[in-house]
Amino acid sequence: MIVHQVGVKFQRFSRFSTPSVTHAHIRSYQEADENAVVALWSACGLIVPQNDPRKDIARKVADSPELFLIAESGGRLIGSCMAGYEGHRGWINYLAVHPDFQRQGLATRLMSEAQQILIGLGCPKINLQIRRTNPTVRAFYESLGFTEDEVISMGIRLINDSLP
Ligand SMILES: CC(C)(COP(=O)(O)OP(=O)(O)OC[C@H]1O[C@@H](n2cnc3c(N)ncnc32)[C@H](O)[C@@H]1OP(=O)(O)O)[C@@H](O)C(=O)NCCC(=O)NCCS
Repeated sequence: MIVHQVGVKFQRFSRFSTPSVTHAHIRSYQEADENAVVALWSACGLIVPQNDPRKDIARKVADSPELFLIAESGGRLIGSCMAGYEGHRGWINYLAVHPDFQRQGLATRLMSEAQQILIGLGCPKINLQIRRTNPTVRAFYESLGFTEDEVISMGIRLINDSLP
């Protein structure tokens, strides 16, 4: 299913209810989004000392900005999904939905859009990494049909983002 419009309608809510997602727009990242994206990632606990979010954004914009998806409604940025494709596998990073709008299907819709774009590029499989400190995200990806691969994820840092 291709999702171009995701809904987030801001309903007046009290302490007894949460905002309802009914209308929102998914689009590519734009330069003016930077501060709001960093704020979203901060609200979602995705900013860690070893990564500089603004450098991550700049690298993505330089590489493939069309794969950096944003969900917004009423001028408020409430979701993100950074997809990638290097000719063999697709990747997902920085999937985030603001806590006020979680459990309403928005991340599912962001992933649907990202998957359709990747399929359009001929991408045969998505890989992604989940921090061990973030077990609930596993449940989200499993709800989409993702399964654990019998692999060890390894990495080596090439650029130290904590240096000026
Ligand atoms: C993970 C995240 C993006 C999910 O966003 P979301 O919009 O709430 O997800 P959805 O509403 O599309 O959830 C779809 C399904 O995933 C599962 N799911 C989602 N969040 C879950 C949670 N916290 N615990 C258990 N299952 C969960 C449920 O099966 C859910 O369906 P249900 O609500 O009908 O039960 C959001 O929780 C988030 O931004 N977390 C913080 C950032 C983060 O950790 N990102 C991942 C980096 S790897």
